[in-house]
Amino acid sequence: MSSLDLGVLVSGSGTNLQAILDAVQAGRLDARVRVVVSNRAEAQGLARAAAADVPTRVVSHRDYPDRPSFDRALVGVLRDAGVRWVVLAGFMRIVTAELLDAFPQRVINIHPSLLPAFPGVDAQAQALAYGVRVTGCTVHLVDAGTDTGPIVGQRAVPVLDGDDRAALAARILEQEHALLVEVLQGVAAGRLRVEPGEGGRARAHLALDGGRDGGQGAP
Ligand code: GRF
Repeated sequence: MSSLDLGVLVSGSGTNLQAILDAVQAGRLDARVRVVVSNRAEAQGLARAAAADVPTRVVSHRDYPDRPSFDRALVGVLRDAGVRWVVLAGFMRIVTAELLDAFPQRVINIHPSLLPAFPGVDAQAQALAYGVRVTGCTVHLVDAGTDTGPIVGQRAVPVLDGDDRAALAARILEQEHALLVEVLQGVAAGRLRVEPGEGGRARAHLALDGGRDGGQGAP
């Protein structure tokens, strides 16, 4: 069984990337991080990758006139590195069809809310402002919308009295790390299925039994 060839896109601190690297290092996740790409040279995630001997690349969105041309550059870097699955781990850019069509149903995002609640930026602040008592995190496949793609996994997190944004974000982040690794373990085991759902909306499902395709899926 071949392992999962991942490309991880980061813009910031990269703690979700670290969770992936730690799981791979500990033998809990049958994957290889082929490259870590950031749109920001100062992203801490790049240092985390370098410390784990993972190749890094900076592709600055400022060097491209529009989103599609930026995404074409990303696709080139990811393909050159042998990536087959892409993880958006705190990547603060909206991706376009250029990336999604290059990796169909193989772009995964982690979002700090129980989608479809609180999509977009600063989901933790949105949850606090709304006054929900439970929020959480979601791993989903990326589609053309903002945080709208098929949901693969979710974890609930309580909002506690006196929480500020930082406290809530930290509590959610802990669950993000566990959820992201859990989902990638399922993908690596070939257990992810994507099927048409109601109204043409695709449904993702992590099956309980293992697949036979080594986790890379059909071409
Ligand atoms: C996480 O909360 C993630 O859900 C969101 O951005 C944050 C990234 O954190 N998309 P990190 O860079 O993985 O530490």
